[in-house]
Amino acid sequence: MSTFFPMNNGDHVYSYARNSQIQREVLDGAKEMMKEAIIKNLDIKYILSSSNKFHITDLGCSIGPNTFTSMQHVVQVVKDKYHDKNLEFQVFFNDHVTNDFNTLFRSLPVDRSYYASGVPGSFHGRLFPSRSIHFAHCSCAIHWLSKIPKELLDTNSPAWNKGLCRLMDLVNEGMLDESLVDSFNVPIYLPSPDDITKVVEKNGCFSIENIELTYPQSKLVDEADAKTFIINLRAILEGLFINHFGIKIAEEAFTRTILKNKEISAWMKTNYKACQLFIALKRK
Ligand SMILES: C[S@@+](CC[C@H](N)C(=O)[O-])C[C@H]1O[C@@H](n2cnc3c(N)ncnc32)[C@H](O)[C@@H]1O
Repeated sequence: MSTFFPMNNGDHVYSYARNSQIQREVLDGAKEMMKEAIIKNLDIKYILSSSNKFHITDLGCSIGPNTFTSMQHVVQVVKDKYHDKNLEFQVFFNDHVTNDFNTLFRSLPVDRSYYASGVPGSFHGRLFPSRSIHFAHCSCAIHWLSKIPKELLDTNSPAWNKGLCRLMDLVNEGMLDESLVDSFNVPIYLPSPDDITKVVEKNGCFSIENIELTYPQSKLVDEADAKTFIINLRAILEGLFINHFGIKIAEEAFTRTILKNKEISAWMKTNYKACQLFIALKRK
């Protein structure tokens, strides 16, 4: 069964649309590498011999505004490379069916230079007809797993995840059953360059044109802005927390964590380092 819970919907104070600065830093950090990859590797002469339509998809787009920034960037780089006035761009915004596509479409930039469509469904499955996408983009999404690996739910497995720092405060005060804390997992896996390389090679359809692990400067961390950081996490994880702990405890956990923002800021200043993996693939 899928265990996926969407980013916070709508445009409210804890919505993803208003609280995705961490992800914005990631895509800003990747812009130059993406531009270089397009300039060096994208060859659309073949596409243009039969059509003037260039199809782009953003896999795991969520509800903006980051997806709009990335899509405009891709369109602009391709335009700058080809200077072809006849070229038309179509962007397919993809995310899970539970994504708030209404908010996404309502906030589409009015001055965009592409046609927009939504494609609901998991990118772990097939989403498009064969050879219909010319450029696929995915930022801060591929590390989400479709479900929690079963070993993490087995109390006898070495992978059993006992204890969870901040929530232990709540356990101590008797608000929570400890087993509920121990069985909580965030279904993400952050792959190393080696992991990704192995998967791409096993798949066999793509060549790796560039793979880089970078440690970009993070404005959030430099300013040790833990409050923004925590609210960003809330916009990502609140659905998952509510599903597991219930709305009352989820609310309490986020509210209390924000109250500790000074302590967390100090911790971030000395311990936190942003790390980003960029990979550019080309269809063989
Ligand atoms: C942290 S958000 C990133 C959104 C956007 N790319 C950005 O950079 O702001 C991750 C998004 O990936 C989506 N996602 C995760 N796994 C997915 C899957 N298998 N298929 C489609 N979307 C997925 C989530 O629903 C979520 O909206």
